[in-house]
Amino acid sequence: MPDKVICMADENEKSTLDRMTRRTFIKGVIAAGAVSWTGYMYKATAIAAPGASSGSIERLITLNVNGQERHVDVMPQETLAQTLRNKLGLTGTKIGCDRAECGACTVLVDDVPLYSCSTLTHSVRGNKIVTIEGLKGTGDKLHPLQQGILDEQGFQCGYCAPGFLMAAAGFLKTNPNPTRGELAHGVSGNICRCQDYEKILDALMRGAQYLREA
Ligand code: FES
Ligand code: FES
Repeated sequence: MPDKVICMADENEKSTLDRMTRRTFIKGVIAAGAVSWTGYMYKATAIAAPGASSGSIERLITLNVNGQERHVDVMPQETLAQTLRNKLGLTGTKIGCDRAECGACTVLVDDVPLYSCSTLTHSVRGNKIVTIEGLKGTGDKLHPLQQGILDEQGFQCGYCAPGFLMAAAGFLKTNPNPTRGELAHGVSGNICRCQDYEKILDALMRGAQYLREA
């Protein structure tokens, strides 16, 4: 066979291979897309229609929040932060990251600080929940921690303050007379985007002192 013909045959074969490769590739992409879309649909269905897979979960529940029995309609996948803020109007609990990283959403559950953005509401039925709205002093006084913040002007924008207060309140129940370092460690799950940590610690140390004297 002449060289030119051999070359043309090679070219034809190469372009067939190219087409095959491209076709195979495109088919692969379509197949992968179909699989991932199916996965997405499956997950979406599971979330949108919880009754289909968890029909026995009762949505109308009673929660003990700030010493009150609150009746509320809660979806199975709903977080405590969502329930507190959107259903019960307790917007003092803040949402920062919504993924268990910043502590802005901290509340007490049976006196233990928990990230409410990462706690399913159904999991705390029967527990005692305290939010920043439930942190009160005796009579019409501020809670000693709140008074400490007022006296030391501990926060800048204040967005992180409710979370820090609840974390400190929970920690001080286990260690009422901490060193500054111990208290810093106790609230180390909370982040302040204004980076006001020294002032926050001044305020919380002052609040801890007021709490001991109360
Ligand atoms: S909002 Fe819950 S940890 Fe950040
Ligand atoms: S004071 Fe602004 S985030 Fe802490």
